[in-house]
Amino acid sequence: MTQQTSILFVCLGNICRSPTAHGVFERLIEQEGLSARFYIDSAGTAAYHVGKAPDPRTQAAAKRRGYPLEHLRARAVDMSDFERFDYILAMDDANLRELRSLCPRGFRGHLGLFLDFAEGVKHKEVPDPYYTSGDQGFEEVLDLVEKASQGLYRHLLQEAGR
Ligand code: 4NP
Repeated sequence: MTQQTSILFVCLGNICRSPTAHGVFERLIEQEGLSARFYIDSAGTAAYHVGKAPDPRTQAAAKRRGYPLEHLRARAVDMSDFERFDYILAMDDANLRELRSLCPRGFRGHLGLFLDFAEGVKHKEVPDPYYTSGDQGFEEVLDLVEKASQGLYRHLLQEAGR
């Protein structure tokens, strides 16, 4: 039996950090030939940008590293996410707090910070690049998301081996 693991990446607007995590992690499992084993999605705790494609700066930075994000559309977190996802991973503490305030008592999955899976990284949070000028903030998001994706993948392989 092949059991699917479902993972939801969450930031504020779902147009910068969480779509980056969505695209990077999806590419990683695709390269490993494991796409069918996972269901990946992303969402925002705020609804400001619902229906929009990722921010053009996010798309451009991701494309430079070979991650297509243009097919993604922003949506807001909703209560059914706590029934549908095994892992709900927040990009920063503020979004984790918001998710905890929504989380029903019966949630059996893992709710935590995405960067807890990043090895050798000092950051606990993926900094919000939305109000920064230039590319640096978006490159940093990609650097952190790539590291955390590798760590999350290793963690999931270990879990699967148990
Ligand atoms: P994200 O970035 O949470 O990484 O998608 C943001 C996008 C939009 C806004 C804030 C952060 N905003 O305030 O509109």
